[in-house]
Amino acid sequence: MKTDAFLKILPPLVRGRVAPYLDALGILSEIRDPRVARSLGPAAVRGLFLQRGKQGVPTLMPARHEAYFDWRYPAGERKEMETLYRRAKASQWDGDLALDWTTSVDPLNPERAGLPAGFLNMERLREHGIRLSEAEQRRLRADVLSWMLSQFLHGEQGALFAAAQVTEAVQFFDGKLYGATQVMDEARHVEVFHRYLETKLEKVYQINDNLFVIIDALMSDGRWDMKFLGMQIMVEGLALGAFGTLYKMTGEPLLRELLRNVIQDEARHVHYGVLALREHFTKHLSDSERREREEWALEVALLMRNRFLAFEVYEEWFEGRLSREAWRGFVESSLGFETFRKVMFERLVPNLREIGLLSDRIRPRYAKVGLLRYMDGASADQLSGDAMLAALDARASWTEAA
Ligand SMILES: [Fe+2]
Ligand SMILES: [Fe+2]
Repeated sequence: MKTDAFLKILPPLVRGRVAPYLDALGILSEIRDPRVARSLGPAAVRGLFLQRGKQGVPTLMPARHEAYFDWRYPAGERKEMETLYRRAKASQWDGDLALDWTTSVDPLNPERAGLPAGFLNMERLREHGIRLSEAEQRRLRADVLSWMLSQFLHGEQGALFAAAQVTEAVQFFDGKLYGATQVMDEARHVEVFHRYLETKLEKVYQINDNLFVIIDALMSDGRWDMKFLGMQIMVEGLALGAFGTLYKMTGEPLLRELLRNVIQDEARHVHYGVLALREHFTKHLSDSERREREEWALEVALLMRNRFLAFEVYEEWFEGRLSREAWRGFVESSLGFETFRKVMFERLVPNLREIGLLSDRIRPRYAKVGLLRYMDGASADQLSGDAMLAALDARASWTEAA
């Protein structure tokens, strides 16, 4: 890599400051479709260069979309959405009552480890001359867990506002009523993840720059279907896979219960996303509009796959001792992260197929990055939360998913 050669000639302190920007430039220069560059570009500048999510002050994101009113109230026009609405009403739960908050959680207790011992590839760190004691390794895993749950929390805040916007903007009346239940669901998710992080792990990480870019891009896009694609399919689809993986691997009972509850809600959300977009993308868009969404989805998938690598933990633990490239190799070779990646894309790719964004034109590019093998899996409209949890419970161990 040319940038690596350039970085080597810089003093370590400067190198640490410059590397993230070169990384960010790499992301922008890889975007092929100019329409996608226009959509993700400004968000990328705000997220990757200005790091708006990390300034310690609230972020104001301009939101442009039209609220769609229908004075005819055509209830029951879309049966599957109506059914989802009924199921969602009946499945509401209270974060105060459904979870046992008196459970004492010690993130360093190996008997009830948040992340299992084999999660990180410690051998790889030793190859770079970094030796951590048992206690340090436990602390590193606890920090990785806090990082992960913090990103879930930030994603949930994005989901809360996106769900509210989409509820205004969609033209399906049954979808609007359903959407209101999702707004409540997301509020509850923000509540329980935040409470767990604040009171049990006592450590919250800032938002990852790449996640910020995606949230910023979809919040400020005026087209409801782009918000939908970004949030209901990409972010929520990946989150659903991540929640399932963590549910399977964690030894901490309160977190497991929390995830079990959240997964039931999220399965409905992604199901709704598939229903709404399948109709819209296949019936109401021109070829060119569909191609734009296809490119956008691929870029966002790559952003999540290649860049969502816990650099915030790296900066805290190893900056100056280990290069960003070496950290990337460490994360990518760790069984825990590999399992996450696999299950996340196993969930996401079939949904992209189902909504018509995996045309013959784009498939070779998914194949090139190793994502096409998930193509034939079940999409969210065929998979309930209960079925997902049952399949996870049936697996002997978390490593079986890898
Ligand atoms: Fe959520
Ligand atoms: Fe959700």
